[in-house]
Amino acid sequence: MSLLEVMGLTVAAGGRRLVDDVSFDVSAGERVGVIGESGSGKSVTSLAVTGLLSPSLSASGSVLLGGREVVGAADRALRPLRGPVAALLFQEPLTALDPLMRVGRQIAEPMRRHLGLRGEALQDAVRTALADVSLPDERIARAFPHELSGGQRQRVATAIALAARPQLLIADEPTTALDVTVQDEILTLLDRLVAERDMALLFISHDLAVVARMTDRVIVMRSGRAVEQGTVAQVIGAPQHPYTADLVASARALDSAIDAPAGEAP
Ligand SMILES: Nc1ncnc2c1ncn2[C@@H]1O[C@H](COP(=O)(O)OP(=O)(O)OP(=O)(O)O)[C@@H](O)[C@H]1O
Ligand SMILES: [Mg+2]
Repeated sequence: MSLLEVMGLTVAAGGRRLVDDVSFDVSAGERVGVIGESGSGKSVTSLAVTGLLSPSLSASGSVLLGGREVVGAADRALRPLRGPVAALLFQEPLTALDPLMRVGRQIAEPMRRHLGLRGEALQDAVRTALADVSLPDERIARAFPHELSGGQRQRVATAIALAARPQLLIADEPTTALDVTVQDEILTLLDRLVAERDMALLFISHDLAVVARMTDRVIVMRSGRAVEQGTVAQVIGAPQHPYTADLVASARALDSAIDAPAGEAP
C-alpha cells in the first residue's frame, strides 16, 4: 500500500483552482520530487496532503495518508498522523519554530507526545536528535530561535520534523532561503537522514538540479496541474511536456555556462 495516495486532488479559492485534479502516490521509502514554477501549486499541494490548508481554501478529491482519508477530515483526526506518519519541513525555518520557546523543548515536545518519552530518556533523545542534525553543541538546546543562524535554524526545524520518526518527510523548498554553501550542507544532511531512517521523501523545489540530486521520480506541476510524471532519468532525458523541456533546457544552459572556459560563449 502507498504511504501517500493522492487521487484527483483539487484545491479551490472561491472559483479559482489552485490545484487541479492532481494524482500521484508515494510508497514507503520512495523519494519523489515535485517541480514547477512559482505559483504552480506546489506548496498548496503539500499543505493539502497533510490537511493544513487555510480555512479559506476548499479541497476535493482524495488524499490517503497512511491509509487515512485527509480530505474533509477533522483536524483532531489528523493530528496523530502529523509527526509519526508525515512531517513537513518548510522553506523558512522560522515559520516552524516558536520564537518564545528554547529549541530543546521544541524538539522534546513531539517526542513526549508521540513517543511517550519522559525525563532522562527524553533529554537523551533531544541530545541525540541535535547530534543527528550535526548540532552537537549543548548550548543549542538552550538557545531561542533568534540566537541561531539560518542554517542552524533549518537544522533545528529538521530535528523537530524528524522527532516523531515520520515515515514520510515532506520538504517544501527547504534550502531556498539559505546561501549556497549552507544549502549544500542541508541537502547532504537530508539525503543522509532519509537514507539512514528509510524514510519516504516528497521533495518540493523549483530547481531541477536539486530535485534530480534528491529524488528518483518527479512530478512536474504547471498552473495547478501535474503535467508530467516519470523517473528523473525519463523526465530529464526525454521530457514530454513543452514546459518540462524548457525546464531541462534552461538547467542545461546554466550547466554549460558554468562549464565553459572564461570568455567563451556557452
Ligand atoms: N490561502 C490562499 N488563498 C488564496 N490563494 C492562495 C492561497 N495560498 C496560495 N494561493 C495561491 O495559489 C497558487 C499556488 O500557490 P503555491 O504557494 O502552491 O505556489 P508554489 O508552487 O508553492 O510557488 P513557490 O515556488 O513560489 O513557492 C498561487 O497563485 C497562490 O497565490
Ligand atoms: Mg511554495
